Amino acid sequence: MNRRKFMTRTLAAGATVSIASAPANASNGKPVKILGISCSPREGKTTATAVKASLDAARRVDSRIKVELIDLGGLEISGWSSGAKTTEGRQITDGFDLILPKLRDPNVGGWIIGSPVYFRSMSALCKVFLERCAVLRKPKLLLADTVVGVLAVGAFRNGGQELVIEQVQTVLLCHEVMVVGGKPGAHQGATLWNAYKDDITKDEFGMDTARKLGIRVAEAALRLAPKKD
Ligand SMILES: Cc1cc2nc3c(=O)[nH]c(=O)nc-3n(C[C@H](O)[C@H](O)[C@H](O)COP(=O)(O)O)c2cc1C
Repeated sequence: MNRRKFMTRTLAAGATVSIASAPANASNGKPVKILGISCSPREGKTTATAVKASLDAARRVDSRIKVELIDLGGLEISGWSSGAKTTEGRQITDGFDLILPKLRDPNVGGWIIGSPVYFRSMSALCKVFLERCAVLRKPKLLLADTVVGVLAVGAFRNGGQELVIEQVQTVLLCHEVMVVGGKPGAHQGATLWNAYKDDITKDEFGMDTARKLGIRVAEAALRLAPKKD
């Protein structure tokens, strides 16, 4: 996917929400951005829908919260390779480079990251994305104190959703992020069951956990935002 198509798609998702009336004393007057990252190769499918529901709930928590969905579906991203440098003097140019500026935005206070369950593990796309995020650790830990909530979608009720959540949390702890679960009922994160032919909105329990995750991430990000200044 080229840059133009990526930008068009991101804007079409209508994911960036402007704040009309942020209170003067809000997070030192600054908005707090929550990025939703969908790590399914299937663009706009169940994982993306669930992440978007989580973002919508986060946005409703407070007028200071801005949200943006990054759907990795359709992007070609290679994993870390010692031969192909991925920092400033690099050769690699792929989908990750398109989204890197969004990840480096200093206003980002939280991530809601979602992966489909693939053989009781995170998707390969999720893994390569996380490997490439190594560039966010140097020269300083850019994600330190960023609030992270995780969501997983599987085709089975007990398909490995909680395992996937744990795997993603484990990786991101290397960045000194603040891992959170959801509000009660979504203790570890959001767990969704794709039992209705890709209409994930019919999984009422799972969608509820997605919303509870978004609320918790937003609340925690608002509290931690001043620490990130
Ligand atoms: C290679 C592969 C492995 C899968 N393994 C599992 C699994 O172990 N457990 C599960 O519940 N679902 C599994 N699924 C189903 C997906 O997790 C499920 O369809 C999910 O909704 C896909 O997300 P998407 O709609 O965002 O692409 C697997 C699907 C694929 C393609």
